[in-house]
Amino acid sequence: MIPTETECYGLMDRYGMLANIKDHSIVVADIVRVISQGLVRSGVPVSIEMAVAGALLHDIGKTQTLKTGGDHAALGREICLQHHFDEIADVVGEHVRLKSHSTDGTCSEKEIVYYADKRVLHTSVVSLEERMHDILARYGRNDLGLHQRIRENFRLCEGVEERIFSKLAFGPDELADVIREKMDAAR
Ligand SMILES: [Fe+2]
Repeated sequence: MIPTETECYGLMDRYGMLANIKDHSIVVADIVRVISQGLVRSGVPVSIEMAVAGALLHDIGKTQTLKTGGDHAALGREICLQHHFDEIADVVGEHVRLKSHSTDGTCSEKEIVYYADKRVLHTSVVSLEERMHDILARYGRNDLGLHQRIRENFRLCEGVEERIFSKLAFGPDELADVIREKMDAAR
């Protein structure tokens, strides 16, 4: 099953998601919605519902692992499976690092969420470069090996960015404006 947005918010409450993580997830979901809608318009077969639900729940395991330690993406995947939301389990489980990615030039729901999460610093839409420097500073722990893995992950993400935006009518730099226009129009 794919959870409805209401069910996603219900799970956030149930797992005591911290307000700042919830706010972050909502912005990631806004980006995911805009990107998925654009891709569908270009004929790429992605499920907007699945991508948005995955985005809303991508950090569902995070509040717990802040206290207990552990891999919040793996825990989030488990939580999805426990609730029979199998369709989004891998979207959540691979939002930090993709285990596999499309090689046929298209993009999948999990790649969209993986990418969108790396464009949001707290609740601000930023470039991949900016987000990478934030992650290096916060999680890099002055560990050179870890720094290298983070940089490699962002290099892979640049490839995903290229693939996504080759199908969209706007560029990565225009993402923040597109989101703002959508928000203004919805008001
Ligand atoms: Fe996360």
